[in-house]
Amino acid sequence: MKIEKSDFGSLTSEEKVYKYKLSNSSMSIEIINYGGIITNINFPNSEGKKIDIVLGFNHLDQYLDKQPYFGAIIGRYGNRISKGKFNVCDKLYQLKTNNGEHALHGGIKGFDKVIWSVEEIIKKGYVGLKLNYLSRDMEEGYPGNLNVNVTYILNSKDELKIIYEAVTDSPTIINLTQHSYFNLAGESSGDILNHMVSINADSFLPIDEGLIPTGEFKSVNKTPFDFRELKKIGKDINLQNNQLKYGLGYDHCWVLNNSQKVIRKVAQAKSLKSGIQLDVFSDQPGIQFYTGNFLDGSLKSKNLKAYKKRAGFCFETQHFPDSPNKSNFPNVILNISELYKTETWYKFSNTNR
Ligand code: GLA
Repeated sequence: MKIEKSDFGSLTSEEKVYKYKLSNSSMSIEIINYGGIITNINFPNSEGKKIDIVLGFNHLDQYLDKQPYFGAIIGRYGNRISKGKFNVCDKLYQLKTNNGEHALHGGIKGFDKVIWSVEEIIKKGYVGLKLNYLSRDMEEGYPGNLNVNVTYILNSKDELKIIYEAVTDSPTIINLTQHSYFNLAGESSGDILNHMVSINADSFLPIDEGLIPTGEFKSVNKTPFDFRELKKIGKDINLQNNQLKYGLGYDHCWVLNNSQKVIRKVAQAKSLKSGIQLDVFSDQPGIQFYTGNFLDGSLKSKNLKAYKKRAGFCFETQHFPDSPNKSNFPNVILNISELYKTETWYKFSNTNR
């Protein structure tokens, strides 16, 4: 197992960007210190040929331009906060709004757009990167100096483990996630509608027109949101349904079963074409399943094709959107002297080999 480091450009003369390639004997994962972005995941298809299964770009400039969070670490608060307002200790905070009237994914300059410091980890059976970022008090409007570590581990079992840790010096809110767009048939292979997906959730969070949860937990039974058994993404995505209309497809948070802060299997996806399967394990209460509805063909893929609508999907493990404003949703406040620690694993395999 090894890590190879190479130059990937720079933001300023002081802010250099590097790419780190983590590999084991069968696969590799490439990560940059800008946004902690996973730029490439190469995994063997049915013929044994390695294909790249995440959306992204070849050049730093494309990551610096407006882009929809390809591969990035998201924070401080992943997903939406209604009108960017929330209370901590009876004090009202106002975030900058960057998604209509709402705040999305940490703000104008979230964790997806900062330079992380990197420590390489080489151990028996795994390699990894420990990324660190200190988010200052009131950065993007959030209270408290928040010291964040995100550790990416690739082990010999083809598992990518992501461990999020944070401490604060003043009570704040936090909801970290990872925004990789997967296409298990290959990043330039077209849409993901033929992928089979299952999500271990009996209910999901309905949203309003602004994609803010209404607060209701709705059973998936007899709805297009039922992924309890493996189902093609495309099977129900175009049905007449108000929720699908608001999301322009799937862009919802599922309420994962067995939420006791223990790591358990929460979702699966599989391409019948490449044979590549992704199993997701997490200790988080929710998963945002997003089917790339906003991709519109304007961004060029790594193979110089266009990323059109539904060219990839995301499995963003997380706490529920707008939790700070929903008293019936689990707590997202981090207090002084508490350690925020959560884990998500993406396990890759190929069932045809
Ligand atoms: C998240 C959101 C989507 C969209 C994408 C980025 O997954 O839920 O609505 O904003 O990020 O384009």
